[in-house]
Amino acid sequence: MRIIRTKDYEDMSKKAADLIASVILLKPNCVLGLATGSSPIGTYKNLVKKYKEGNLDFSQVKSVNLDEYKGLPRDNEQSYYYFMHDNLFSKVNINLDNTHLPNGMELDSNKACEEYDKVIASMNGVDMQLLGLGHDGHIGFNEPNSCFDKTTHCVKLTEMTIEANKRFFASIDDVPREAYTMGIGTIMAAKMVIMVVSGKDKAEILKKAFFGPVTPEVPASILQFHPNFVLVADEDALSLVK
Ligand code: F6R
Repeated sequence: MRIIRTKDYEDMSKKAADLIASVILLKPNCVLGLATGSSPIGTYKNLVKKYKEGNLDFSQVKSVNLDEYKGLPRDNEQSYYYFMHDNLFSKVNINLDNTHLPNGMELDSNKACEEYDKVIASMNGVDMQLLGLGHDGHIGFNEPNSCFDKTTHCVKLTEMTIEANKRFFASIDDVPREAYTMGIGTIMAAKMVIMVVSGKDKAEILKKAFFGPVTPEVPASILQFHPNFVLVADEDALSLVK
């Protein structure tokens, strides 16, 4: 595990974008594993900036996203499909046919997950997986559990995640209760994993995840075993780590 310590959210976003840009420069047809949430928004902004300045070309890049709410249509502003289009895909020259998210409108969970695993398998490996860190240690929607799930699966969101995500919806009742997520096995199979973490509210879980035991009770802790894991975190998030 390598840690890149940054001053604040802005600095974290710039450095994470630099790392992702280098992946694209080295392999123009790379497969990027992408995340949503507040943590990577600044990273996407910096990637868009690099593209607009003529320093980055997404024309051959392929992407697979970590997760999607079950039951939310793509045009719902809270769907991860909408998020990715709003924050990245509509602002760079990526070919939309090369971008993939689990199909939230497929209500047959087995079908949705099997189809997504086939898409991931057809990519021949994810070159870089971007992650955020949930307050309970979740990655994707892999919530604290008694075992690590390997492939794409349907999860019931925990009360903590529903509570954390309610800020994005009109009311807590509107927060979907289920989601499709890549499994821990798929995340661990990525050639490189970059996690962006910012803020004092993440300090405790960051310490637990990366300086405590590896356990499914803190799903992110498995990343300690990843051979090419880069944690890009700001001073606040690292404030409990010596
Ligand atoms: C997003 C995702 C989630 C978030 C996590 C942190 O695709 O899968 O695991 O990365 O909930 O969210 P933020 O960044 O909003 O604190």
